[in-house]
Amino acid sequence: MTRRVTYSQLGGPEVLTISEVPEPHAGAGEVRVRVKFAGINPFDAKVFSGGATSTPQNVTFPNGNGNDFAGVVDEVGDGVARWALGDEVLGGKGFSAQADYVVVPERKLVRKPASLSWEQAGGLDIAGRTAWASVESLSLTPADTVLVSAAAGGVGVIAAQLAKLKGAKVIGSASASNHEFLQSLGIHPVTYGEGMVERILEISPEGITAALDNNGRETVDAALALGAPADRINSIADYAALKEYGTTGVGAAGATPDDLAALSALVAAGTVQVPIDSVFPFEQVSEAYAKLIQGHSRGKIVLSL
Ligand SMILES: NC(=O)c1ccc[n+]([C@@H]2O[C@H](COP(=O)([O-])OP(=O)(O)OC[C@H]3O[C@@H](n4cnc5c(N)ncnc54)[C@H](OP(=O)(O)O)[C@@H]3O)[C@@H](O)[C@H]2O)c1
Repeated sequence: MTRRVTYSQLGGPEVLTISEVPEPHAGAGEVRVRVKFAGINPFDAKVFSGGATSTPQNVTFPNGNGNDFAGVVDEVGDGVARWALGDEVLGGKGFSAQADYVVVPERKLVRKPASLSWEQAGGLDIAGRTAWASVESLSLTPADTVLVSAAAGGVGVIAAQLAKLKGAKVIGSASASNHEFLQSLGIHPVTYGEGMVERILEISPEGITAALDNNGRETVDAALALGAPADRINSIADYAALKEYGTTGVGAAGATPDDLAALSALVAAGTVQVPIDSVFPFEQVSEAYAKLIQGHSRGKIVLSL
């Protein structure tokens, strides 16, 4: 038997339990990974609390939990040519990754660069692919001034740095406690909340040309007020704005394993920083989500198995 996070009713983080389940095995074209670190994401919490507005609507109990993982290949199925036992990998598999073992199609895995930390690798898939796809969707250039909301959070901190690599001037919204950190990354920090538009105009009197929203309506409204055209405002947190204003909503599904590999290389090289807010032991998965739900993590929270 082996361990897996499951839940059998909707609710807060307390519904998560560690269950004993039979060991999974790799089928043809699949690889089994012994997980070392697993990530946690707000989407998981939206699903297990019943608050998800996007897929999946039909959760069947007991449901598995978690998408991001990093670990070591320990079983390969028939026909797998790309991976061998002992390979260090990262990737994602929805509602499955918070477990001792995860079984994935071989094409979904990415090789872990030696200098990428296990903690960073374990939390990179969803936030990394989302940041990558959202930044690419805006075709940013050095002519852009872009507002990135929740710029110290899991997605935002990566998106802000990728936007900067495109040459754009980046203004990142965050609490005061994150301003020095954002400045150290070359990002202009701004406090969110009432008066944000005026504070951004002090940083950029000519307004902004694009926005990457990772928090919700306040950023979308501010971006429109600051002159960004609706089709250059990408929100991964407010899908109602898509219909209302014609903003875009490119998220994780817009990036491939190759994109994740490219981002992994940038993080491994230190070109993009992915801070690890905290590491929780696997047994404290509920506590990890309780911290995530508070909404003020810097970078990623991960579970250690
Ligand atoms: N569509 C997709 O593919 C996709 C993929 C990933 C995530 N998402 C969604 O995107 C959102 C962000 O995800 P995440 O993983 O980055 O979350 P996260 O890491 O939990 O975000 C935490 C950050 O949110 C900031 N924050 C809290 N309240 C804020 C406010 N009122 N305005 C601006 N920033 C605020 C915090 O900043 P301070 O600590 O500085 O206050 C903190 O750094 C979530 O809603 C998630 O579900 C969507």
